[in-house]
Amino acid sequence: MMTQLPTHLGLVFGGVSGEHAVSIRSAATVLAALGRGTNTERYRVSCFYIDQRGRWWPPSVAQRVLERGTPALAADLPDPDRHGGFRGFPAGALEVEVWFPVLHGPNGEDGTIQGLFTLMQLPFVGSGVLGSAVGMDKQAMKAAFAAAELPQVPYCCLDAAELKAAPDAVLERLETALGYPCFVKPANMGSSVGISKASDRPGLLAGLQLAATLDPRLVVEQGVKARELECAVLGVGQLRASVLGEICFEADWYDYDTKYSDGSSHTVIPAEVPAELAQRAQAMAIAACRAVAAAGLSRVDFFYDENSGDLWINEINTLPGFTSQSMYPMLWQATGLPLEDLVHELVLGARESFGQRHHFGGATA
Ligand SMILES: Nc1ncnc2c1ncn2[C@@H]1O[C@H](COP(=O)(O)OP(=O)(O)O)[C@@H](O)[C@H]1O
Ligand SMILES: [Mg+2]
Repeated sequence: MMTQLPTHLGLVFGGVSGEHAVSIRSAATVLAALGRGTNTERYRVSCFYIDQRGRWWPPSVAQRVLERGTPALAADLPDPDRHGGFRGFPAGALEVEVWFPVLHGPNGEDGTIQGLFTLMQLPFVGSGVLGSAVGMDKQAMKAAFAAAELPQVPYCCLDAAELKAAPDAVLERLETALGYPCFVKPANMGSSVGISKASDRPGLLAGLQLAATLDPRLVVEQGVKARELECAVLGVGQLRASVLGEICFEADWYDYDTKYSDGSSHTVIPAEVPAELAQRAQAMAIAACRAVAAAGLSRVDFFYDENSGDLWINEINTLPGFTSQSMYPMLWQATGLPLEDLVHELVLGARESFGQRHHFGGATA
């Protein structure tokens, strides 16, 4: 298909999510890469900001937020009625040809915005409705991985209502199935928000109660002592896996503070693991994308026990962090794909996914 250059891209970021601030930094990185080298001839980019209340803002406001690099406070935003910010599309958004969502977590990585673009019959970067939704919800994701026979640590799914109705029975079921330590997770958060490690019954109950305030769908997993490896996947029909990276940290586990305080963790790329293990992880990363119908881009995370050689899949992120320090772009850089080429490939993938959806008439992939 011949396309007219430059393509008008809509970069949308921010969003109603605990990862709003990370999204701003990711969007700044993507925007910079779209404005370098040959991309300047290929693309004209309009930025749109979704504030923490879900209102869309036009490029004038979006640009200011990107330059400052921090979320807009209510006081910074002009009166929405007079300046085009409202619950819907601001001026300029309807002229966008290809959307580039850079939204992490709920309300963006979960199929919601993908549904909007699908309804509008417009191409967009990343997974469609199904892949985004299944990838986001840890219960659904685990069920899809299990169906694809991907190794996972033992886990149980439960509902907050079950916990409320019969806490003792729930605690007994979890203790029998998993033992301690175990990890309690709300199904739909990200950035380790609401996750806790429990070492005894009171800790487990407290963790479940905390997670239940964030999500009615909960997951509990057996705790493992393992290295944390990550692999980036790119492509639509043909999926490619990057070299592996490892996250190293001193803390007991990779909690919110460790993720976001400077100096608490560092990455090793490529990860220092046997070549056979790296190949196994790469094959599993691609299988994980197929299992949840993810496309375009994904980062697949693993636990690796070097003593036993066990490799378990932990999760898939269908819109992984994209800051200049994020694993996803760094893994591709180390695999020989610089950031400018990576963002270009992602837009080409948006067109390929669009073609597939059009061909099959559905909203998957
Ligand atoms: N079963 C587990 N065993 C050991 N550590 C775990 C386990 N599950 C989670 N963790 C720790 O918690 C972190 C966050 O969990 P994860 O499921 O990746 O949530 P998120 O989607 O918020 O990133 C992991 O990176 C790891 O350090
Ligand atoms: Mg994680």
